[in-house]
Amino acid sequence: MEEIIKQIEELREKIRYHNHRYYSLDDPEISDADYDRLFRHLLDLERQYPELITPDSPTRSVGAKPREAFSEVKHGRPMLSLENGFQDEDIIAFDSRIRRFLGDDSHFDYTVEPKIDGLAVELVYEKGKLTVASTRGDAYVGENVTPNIKTILTIPLTLTRRNRERPIPDLLEVRGEVYMESEAFNRLNRKRAEKNLPVFANPRNAAAGSLRQLDFRVTLKRPLNMFCYGIGRISTPDFSTQHELMMALNEWGLRINIPHIKVCKDINEAIDQCHHLEETRPQFFYEIDGAVIKVNRIDIQKRLGEKTRSPRWALAYKFKPSQETTRITKIDVQVGRTGALTPVAHLEPVEIGGVLVKRATLHNQEEINRKDIRELDTVIIHRAGDVIPEVVKVIESKRTGQEKVFVMPDQCPACGTAVKKKEGEVVLRCANPDCPAQIMASLKHFVSKGGMNIDGLGEKIIAQLLDRGMVQSESDIYGLSHEDLMKLNKIEQKSADNLLRAIEDSKKTTLAKFIFALGIRHVGEHIARLLADHFKRFDMIQNASREDLMYRKGKRGEEDSGIKGIGEEIAWSIASYFEDESNIQNIRRLLGSGILWEEVKPAFPPSPISGKTFVLTGSLNSMKRAQAKEQIIGKGGSLSSSISRNTDYLVVGKDPGSKLKKAEDLGVSILNEDKFLIMLGEGHG
Ligand code: IVH
Repeated sequence: MEEIIKQIEELREKIRYHNHRYYSLDDPEISDADYDRLFRHLLDLERQYPELITPDSPTRSVGAKPREAFSEVKHGRPMLSLENGFQDEDIIAFDSRIRRFLGDDSHFDYTVEPKIDGLAVELVYEKGKLTVASTRGDAYVGENVTPNIKTILTIPLTLTRRNRERPIPDLLEVRGEVYMESEAFNRLNRKRAEKNLPVFANPRNAAAGSLRQLDFRVTLKRPLNMFCYGIGRISTPDFSTQHELMMALNEWGLRINIPHIKVCKDINEAIDQCHHLEETRPQFFYEIDGAVIKVNRIDIQKRLGEKTRSPRWALAYKFKPSQETTRITKIDVQVGRTGALTPVAHLEPVEIGGVLVKRATLHNQEEINRKDIRELDTVIIHRAGDVIPEVVKVIESKRTGQEKVFVMPDQCPACGTAVKKKEGEVVLRCANPDCPAQIMASLKHFVSKGGMNIDGLGEKIIAQLLDRGMVQSESDIYGLSHEDLMKLNKIEQKSADNLLRAIEDSKKTTLAKFIFALGIRHVGEHIARLLADHFKRFDMIQNASREDLMYRKGKRGEEDSGIKGIGEEIAWSIASYFEDESNIQNIRRLLGSGILWEEVKPAFPPSPISGKTFVLTGSLNSMKRAQAKEQIIGKGGSLSSSISRNTDYLVVGKDPGSKLKKAEDLGVSILNEDKFLIMLGEGHG
């Protein structure tokens, strides 16, 4: 028993300490997941030994006492917290508990909405005017943050009456979450780092730190926002459901999370909605760390009532944590397929959201300096969706003095070439096109799932193929024979067969996947798909000029040009890629090896236009420029707006521009209008 008492007290002390860092200092020292584990451990022990529960246990209280510098506000009703659930079973148990408590089989539905990761605030409206705003504090007494709250533009100072049926109550205490959007948070942190100020660990701390400012002019500069999700006291409590209450708040001008509040007919639908929110979590512009399930009917909410810390009628389903604490064992540098050098932190493996994370990207030297990340540091790691895990923050209090500052090398770690930084860029690059690390990275990219999708061609086999000189570039993969593969270490007959089959199968692909596989800088799966959808044909992409690619809004009713989603940098990258002689050779070899996809085939008889690239200059007599374009494309040709080595013909009309000279210089065939018409099959020749 002695042991248990000691363990419980230690847990309580730890939780109190972390509460203080989180609620009072807005500067947590452990991940939320670690905190939840401590908390659950204590709850378990208290459940086993109820006689050891004390009223001052953190499991009985919420938040922390207000900071002394703020005046205090007593809440009309305590601002409770929510009970947490982590798995479907917890949600089902919540539903069963409610049914048992009610003791009858009344039917009721639920609402499900995102749990916003910010800080809870109460706004008091008296006769429609915002009089007091406070933080949650210890649930009974919070901090007076009225001037700060008034700087948030979406919080109305006066409520509006939009509906005759819904007069504004004399007293309304509204509750909600103040938060900061993820983008705004990143921007704020970047600015703070530039000024050598400490960065915030996450958007929630940034929101809390920004709101709890003694000088409201600081809050004014911070992009905060608020979603309302409930009420305290109200003078006219005539609502039958939670959903109806939300709609009334909305009518009075308060901001609620309309698109994401869903009424679910039963607990199964609620569970589905929780999963849906968890899956779409990366698409939210703000952090959500769970879903809140509430009994929709207010009469049932009332019957259920509340426990010390939380109401019985609501549950917070917490998503799988996206952050964990771990340690950096080593920092090294990876060379990507475009030669970019990226510092990578090797971690003591840690599970985040069901995936074992061993590495995190540190982006570049600036980022390392900004966050002051050192080898052997204890850090908080963030992993979201399929994005590469990142270091959020160093926990400086865990430093021992053994940590080592990391500086990027001035030579490529793979080939020793001096690295370079382009003006205005932060990325260091190895400029050696034959760098083995770059070739390895390109090959890995080429065979990856989103690219040619060659199953079984992993890093180890690629390394052997490179070592033995069997493969030097992508197209060599398609020349590999069974005999070649059998020469590799530790490869069995059967795996060699399978690999050969996978290589063969990969030849049938799609245009978008092929474009992605090429590994053009800035061309990820999304841009590759845009290109394929827009141009439909590979030769059209290959011949597209920067102007054809780059998106520009049309002036005065003219059509927009280029492709939405492609800006200057990407356009340059694509066009330059297809101008490079070694890329042209590589593509020729790849296409020659039998890679194919379904292309939109021109539905017309072969014509001399088909497959040729045209550029127009000057005005034509017999048709408008747009008509000429239509004719060329309709006959299977492609158009470009500038002359390059890939241009087949320049069509010259009246008053040609500088293109004529350039075409002559490059030896491009020149067509006058008559010859062009003959080619189109409309002339009289
Ligand atoms: S309802 C009686 N709805 O999560 C408590 N809370 O962990 C009613 N939160 O204290 C709370 N989004 O600060 C509710 N849509 C939402 C929420 C939400 C975030 C916060 C709130 C609460 C905490 C509990």
